[in-house]
Amino acid sequence: MNTSPRRRRGIPAIRARKGGEKLVCLTAYTTPMARLLDPHVDLLLVGDSLGMVVYGLGSTLPVTLEMMIAHGAAVVRGAETACVIVDLPFGTYQESPEQAFRNAARVLAETGANGVKLEGGAEMAPTIRFLVERGIPVCGHVGLMPQAVNAAGGFRATGRTEDEAARVQADAAAVAEAGAFALVLEGTVEPVAARITAAVPVPTIGIGASAACDGQILVTEDVLGLFRDFTPRFVKRYADLAAPIGEAAAAYAADVRTGRFPGPEHCFPPRQR
Ligand code: KIV
Repeated sequence: MNTSPRRRRGIPAIRARKGGEKLVCLTAYTTPMARLLDPHVDLLLVGDSLGMVVYGLGSTLPVTLEMMIAHGAAVVRGAETACVIVDLPFGTYQESPEQAFRNAARVLAETGANGVKLEGGAEMAPTIRFLVERGIPVCGHVGLMPQAVNAAGGFRATGRTEDEAARVQADAAAVAEAGAFALVLEGTVEPVAARITAAVPVPTIGIGASAACDGQILVTEDVLGLFRDFTPRFVKRYADLAAPIGEAAAAYAADVRTGRFPGPEHCFPPRQR
């Protein structure tokens, strides 16, 4: 079990990938999944998407700090080499830089993760600066921000109008300037993603933001076909694991109902006389 961030890819290594080899990132919420993904990725994000993917919630808003800490620690236990970043959930950092520091420090101390991610543009820049100056690595998240689903009136791509494009670019610039080591760019049209990627000195990690970004991230359950409530346009499904899981459960059910399971090989032999 590796609970030390020293053996894992660190923040400087992620930052140094700006303009170089593409950063490969996926979400993870549990130890077994982190173990499976770790050899293949540069960064594992314990995203607050776990609220929808793992807990069946309708949005990320009800996710708590305790949930993020429990899942963050689980992922760190499964990550040998990948950098692990944990999302700060809604309501745990927007109130003040001090609130953000208190909660981000808890996340780092109680999970062993390398850094935190928080959503927000220019309005969050002072908070990001406050955290970074106090030793907390921060990944920004601009463009489509799921925690702002109520304000935005739904999950929709941004950057299509000149006003939106200008806002996303200004947000990205402010977050990078405040000291974020990387930026998740979500749901943003290609020309805007390309302009931001050219303009900021830190890696952009796209999700629904085109190949112009310095890296890509997807929700692992989307990639594996395990989360089927809805599939955003930007998801590419690389496997359909829902089908074999259903088949395995059906075969087990049939075996139990017909008495084929457990067989003698699954039972403890009686004591020899
Ligand atoms: O919560 C999450 O999983 C995320 C990624 C999709 C970027 O923020």
